[in-house]
Amino acid sequence: MSLQNEIDHRRTFAIISHPDAGKTTLTEKFLLYGGAIQTAGAVKSNKIRRGATSDFMDIERQRGISVSTSVMTFDYGGKLINLLDTPGHRDFAEDTYRTLTAVDSVVLVIDCVKGVEAQTERLMEVCRMRNTPVIVFINKMDLEGRDPFDLLDELESKLDIKVRPMSWPIGIGRTFQGVYDLFSKGLRLFDPGKSKVEQHSDRIEDLADTRLDASIGKDPADQLRAEIDLIEGVYDPLSLEAYAEGRIAPVFFGSAFNNFGVKEVLDAFVAIAPSPQPRQTDQGEVAPNDPKFSGFIFKIHANLDPNHRDRIAFLRICSGKFERNTYYHHVRLNKNLRFATPTAFLAAAKSIVDEAWPGDVIGLFDTGSFKIGDTLTEGADFQFRGIPAFSPELFRELVNMDPMKTKQLDKGIRQLTDEGVAQLFTQQPGNKKIVGCVGELQFEVISYRLEHEYGAKCAFQQIPAYKACWMTSTDEAALDQFIRVKALQIVQDKDENPVFMAPSQYMLELEKRNNPEITFHTTSEFKTAVV
Ligand code: G4P
Repeated sequence: MSLQNEIDHRRTFAIISHPDAGKTTLTEKFLLYGGAIQTAGAVKSNKIRRGATSDFMDIERQRGISVSTSVMTFDYGGKLINLLDTPGHRDFAEDTYRTLTAVDSVVLVIDCVKGVEAQTERLMEVCRMRNTPVIVFINKMDLEGRDPFDLLDELESKLDIKVRPMSWPIGIGRTFQGVYDLFSKGLRLFDPGKSKVEQHSDRIEDLADTRLDASIGKDPADQLRAEIDLIEGVYDPLSLEAYAEGRIAPVFFGSAFNNFGVKEVLDAFVAIAPSPQPRQTDQGEVAPNDPKFSGFIFKIHANLDPNHRDRIAFLRICSGKFERNTYYHHVRLNKNLRFATPTAFLAAAKSIVDEAWPGDVIGLFDTGSFKIGDTLTEGADFQFRGIPAFSPELFRELVNMDPMKTKQLDKGIRQLTDEGVAQLFTQQPGNKKIVGCVGELQFEVISYRLEHEYGAKCAFQQIPAYKACWMTSTDEAALDQFIRVKALQIVQDKDENPVFMAPSQYMLELEKRNNPEITFHTTSEFKTAVV
């Protein structure tokens, strides 16, 4: 196949949701349709549950599972689909944000009882930063959920995106009878507990057709007619262009657990989701059909065996063809590297690949050469953009508990933060280390891994910090002056950019008012997300 055919053949996406909305269940159903697994229950949840068992055991278990489900590849509808897994636990949200930089579209799962939840909003903010196309699946329609029109309003208002229902539920919870598919004009009747792949459906082109009354009863049929009328009147038809630009999201209703409405989403996904898209670099855009290979590292996974410090770096291929045992240019290190054992991930097994194409994700065996965001090329010197660091939410000072192990601690914290477990900021003089995380659990992971993998003991001390703010200004002198005056609250990120550690929201607002010529950003990529 030619490069262009390989590109057209691929779809790379992620399923995202607030924990418990049904991401794992939907993933499993997609894999069943794709023939990648044969039985329900084959995809283990990578959720970390607090409680009964030790957190550390859970973390290790999660690391074990998440490497095998990091990328799930399957064929469906004539396409090769790469489904990138995202961690279920909120404390690992940053990992999810980075994974979103490696996909071309997402399927967002919403629980119809709970509606848009906190984590849904944050994930969507990240999608909006890149205008990632979104398909919404409203799940658990077998439960007594919220009114579907209210859910659609909430999606539009909280997620700042227009929606367009593509299927419409008939009843909800106990009265749920199925959906009317507005796309193919089919009536799909719900058969609870059915986990088989096939489904029956009646094609009812004209809703006035009396077969509708015979199938679902007169009152529900009349209600459906009225609601579809309303939908056609209120919502614009789906514009594929607006979807591709992330401005409108098609919405489907169903029940992942009952395998209901899942095929419709998957069929629509295959029909409309974009093939591998161009990516931004610091020297302009790189198109997937550029014959020269390029890609970037978006995730690094440490070996589970603490005796081996090797890691797997996940590379998203952006252009050209990647070949095994070929020298490629590591732009940051200005070094040429080749890879003897690049791996592809298939549901649970790993296999060595000889070549890979745009949209593919492969694992590279890494002995410490890679940081998240690194670019590999066939010789060119550009760097991919779009792997921003987001301001952590919790900050602690890293305190060395064993002065004999200072070196190990230094090395350990650098390597763990290269992996993206947390962000490291340093403050001079004194080389004070501040670790920023999204959730408490990450501090536990860090001290556990520092001790077990590097033999270094540490403690974390509370510090007054609210947000890490990267800064830009058109007035260089004013920025320098601010950095000098605020020296006690200025730290450096890993790339030695100055970062203002705002002690509180109030202080941040005050500094913004006092320094109108400085812009404060809560991500390290400045084109977006001004606070
Ligand atoms: P997540 O990955 O987004 O965190 O969610 P997951 O798929 O693990 O689903 C969370 C819970 O919701 C699971 O129940 C799952 O069975 C249930 N669920 C998923 N889809 C549906 C649905 O369409 N209808 C209903 N009623 N429930 C659904 P659990 O009891 O937490 O776990 P399990 O014991 O079933 O694994």
